[in-house]
Amino acid sequence: MSQSDQIVVALSKGRIFKETLPLLASVGIEPLEDPDKSRKLILETSDPSVRLLILRASDVPTYVQHGAADIGVAGKDVLMEHGGEGLFELVDLKIAQCKLMVAGKPGALERAGRIRVATKYTRSAESYFADRGRQIELIKLYGSMELAPLVDLGDCIVDVVDTGNTLRANGLEPLEHIAEISSRLIVNRAAQKLKHARVTDFVERVEQYLEGK
Ligand code: ADP
Ligand code: PRP
Ligand code: MG
Repeated sequence: MSQSDQIVVALSKGRIFKETLPLLASVGIEPLEDPDKSRKLILETSDPSVRLLILRASDVPTYVQHGAADIGVAGKDVLMEHGGEGLFELVDLKIAQCKLMVAGKPGALERAGRIRVATKYTRSAESYFADRGRQIELIKLYGSMELAPLVDLGDCIVDVVDTGNTLRANGLEPLEHIAEISSRLIVNRAAQKLKHARVTDFVERVEQYLEGK
């Protein structure tokens, strides 16, 4: 098999992997191992020309940007933080849907002066508040953002919200909507040229599956 016939797909464990499985199955690709059981980070599939890389969700765009993977599945939230250099965002897969929001205790944004924003989404938060001419102080976190305002680490958070259960369980409210989020199929710009036939075939089959749903 020549190099240009091989494709490497970058995915993250958890909800993206689970929600991508039916889509991969529809184009004839089944992983030979379950990433929740195996410690392997490269999974072979039922299609000898396709390999899967199992990554942290926020690393998917980086692997695709540098050509370590040809194709990836990443949340729009992650793509907004990454910036999208070296990537084409080709298909909205409409999976892992949620909203990027500002959240906090009621009235958290109604204060004079700088608002302290605790988040892992620093780039999105910075641009959202800058567009509205609001001065902020960023507090960089890596997870469990809902905890921060409860212990006065910040006035509000920027995080993804789906059912709102996590906010409610912690006495917080959604305050402002930043963006609708879903996962996207991304490809490396060079792979799009060098492996054009293989990548285009993959993308077209995914699109056909989505249209038929
Ligand atoms: P992480 O370990 O980075 O939190 P996840 O598997 O939880 O990875 O999230 C992967 C992607 O799924 C996120 O980038 C986002 O686009 C989306 N997502 C995150 N949380 C939710 C949720 N509660 N409901 C739906 N989609 C979500
Ligand atoms: C995500 C996100 C929120 C929660 C929102 O966390 O960071 O905490 O889901 O969903 P909800 O509105 O339906 O409660 P996740 O479940 O991915 O946990 P983790 O990222 O902290 O592991
Ligand atoms: Mg998560």
